Amino acid sequence: MDDAAQPHWMTVLPGGWRVPVAAGQTLLQAALDAGVRLPRSCRNGTCRACLARVVNGHTHHNIDWPGLLAEEKAEGWVLPCVACADSDLDLHAPGAVQLPARSGSAP
Ligand code: FES
Repeated sequence: MDDAAQPHWMTVLPGGWRVPVAAGQTLLQAALDAGVRLPRSCRNGTCRACLARVVNGHTHHNIDWPGLLAEEKAEGWVLPCVACADSDLDLHAPGAVQLPARSGSAP
């Protein structure tokens, strides 16, 4: 299989949940797809509700001007709603919670 098709793996800390992140997928969407809810609001990189820190690994933002200072970026802060994985990574997101497993029937 082509390496580009392989997902990167994100570990959401402090919970330790491991989440596959597909190429081009945002960290926020990958977490939600895996049943891990991160704080969020605008989903377009402006409100900073999702602010979290990459403590290992590499990411890039898929918009030119995410709502972060250069100093914050240098310290590893990212906006998961507009950030994509360039490697396996550890994301420190204290507000993350694991959603209950879906039963298959909508309420
Ligand atoms: S949800 Fe608003 S910046 Fe990420």
